[in-house]
Amino acid sequence: MLAWKREFEFGIPVIDDQHRRLIEIGGNLFELVNDDTRDDYFDEIVAMLRELEAYTVNHFEEEEALFDAVDYMGSMAHKFEHKIFVKKLEDFMSDLDAVDSNQKETLLNLLNFIADWLVLHIVKTDREYVPLLFAARK
Ligand SMILES: [Fe+2]
Repeated sequence: MLAWKREFEFGIPVIDDQHRRLIEIGGNLFELVNDDTRDDYFDEIVAMLRELEAYTVNHFEEEEALFDAVDYMGSMAHKFEHKIFVKKLEDFMSDLDAVDSNQKETLLNLLNFIADWLVLHIVKTDREYVPLLFAARK
């Protein structure tokens, strides 16, 4: 499961709101993939994954603009982490036929990657720029 926790909150509303939405989309995806009462939900899941991808790309752009404005030393490595995440989603989307043969397991593998990545990225990597953003506000 993927759900919002207090420890994800930075006190920077623009970032917190976007992170909350990312966690929410991820949580909805888990719910849908685990819904065994549904039969043909693959198109719906792919649509949600596309939404997650689009939202993520936009969020990363905004986040990068914010931390680039405060001379964050970790900028390059941070952007690289973003790039790898987007690439993983793109690769998955580009070969959906391969997913069809073992849908649930493949989707759960992807979702576990997304959940682990999001949580670790927020609590560790994203937290690094928070003090700089606060300092820049003063
Ligand atoms: Fe980030």
